[in-house]
Amino acid sequence: MRTLESLGDLRSKTVIVRCDLNVPLKDGVITDDGRIRASLTTIRELREAGARVVLISHLGRPEGRPEAKYSLQPVAVRMAELLEAPVAFVPETVGAAATAAVEALRDGDVVLLENLRFNAGETSKDDAARRTFAEQLAAFGEAFVSDGFGVVHRKQASVYDLAQLLPSAAGRLVAGELEVLQRLTESPERPYTVVLGGSKVSDKLGVISHLLQRVDTLLIGGGMLFTFLAAQGHKVGASLLEADQLDTVRGYLAEADRLGVRIVLPTDIVVAAGFAADAAHEVVAADAIESSSFGAAGLGLDIGPESSAAFASVIADSATVFWNGPMGVFEMAAFAEGTRTVARALTETDGFTVVGGGDSAAAVRALGFSDNQFGHISTGGGASLEYLEGKNLPGLEVLA
Ligand code: 3PG
Repeated sequence: MRTLESLGDLRSKTVIVRCDLNVPLKDGVITDDGRIRASLTTIRELREAGARVVLISHLGRPEGRPEAKYSLQPVAVRMAELLEAPVAFVPETVGAAATAAVEALRDGDVVLLENLRFNAGETSKDDAARRTFAEQLAAFGEAFVSDGFGVVHRKQASVYDLAQLLPSAAGRLVAGELEVLQRLTESPERPYTVVLGGSKVSDKLGVISHLLQRVDTLLIGGGMLFTFLAAQGHKVGASLLEADQLDTVRGYLAEADRLGVRIVLPTDIVVAAGFAADAAHEVVAADAIESSSFGAAGLGLDIGPESSAAFASVIADSATVFWNGPMGVFEMAAFAEGTRTVARALTETDGFTVVGGGDSAAAVRALGFSDNQFGHISTGGGASLEYLEGKNLPGLEVLA
């Protein structure tokens, strides 16, 4: 993997930096600036080296045309605060205004261009269309730094094609993320525990089958746990269920048995009358979800206290822990306890802990934990899972 050193002296050179500044926003206000903070190391280093820095990123999933709610403008404001330096913002990605702003840069200056995905070429499946957009971007600079780890699993113009058009290298964020993920895949200290949550089993199929060959224990929480319970023959009321995945999940349970891998499912569940912050709720045994006062209409929104304690105890005894996906609907206080207990257990264990994914990272911060309480908080959700699955990531391959 080529790193910044391979680009040589960058003084007075215009360097395009692909970041992942895809931060959560609510009514135009950034609710978690973790990805902006994570991008600062490379930007600072480039400024100190005298480079002229052109930042590019996506935000959300606009479909190839401008949409005000996906503008990167608030990100430029926050970036300038954190960098303690001006960050110019251009309300277009390519065009006359962007060209003028780039040409006006002096050594150490920073400009952020508007959302890459306002241009259809960025995410196009058509190689030529992507290439044309990448060429427009490449015209802005003399070197390219790929530092948007959260997006390296996407074969997109600014991630893949652009890297082929200019001298290119991985930024510090991408290099740091890789070091941690390599430690997890190549030589994890044992016992190695993976905690998986989030709503859908179907999003995690690849990673589960890959991890079964590598981990000692898999702890399952979040909405996906109900498909596991159903696969064991339990009724799950109105809880999230992916009926089309039952056979696959049964296969995982059988394979885990064969390999001697422990899959730990919750033994108790917080069941609610409805999906609402103030819904009535009670704790019942995981194999008797429909025995709650809400009968078959009850839905599980968090793992129960007995399960949280059991998960915490496995984590305490682990030498390596990777966690992706909340245990329940942590955004609602009544259903946040499972996620909080798991997060706390990660902060307390002596083992090496990695929190993977934008959502999981935002969850731990929203619950009041800070980044330095964990071994590593990855900025990439899909990217870190795909790496752990052993997939080839186009944005990394192109930097090899
Ligand atoms: C993420 O949030 O995981 C990254 O920013 C990638 O976004 P995407 O899934 O829309 O490509």
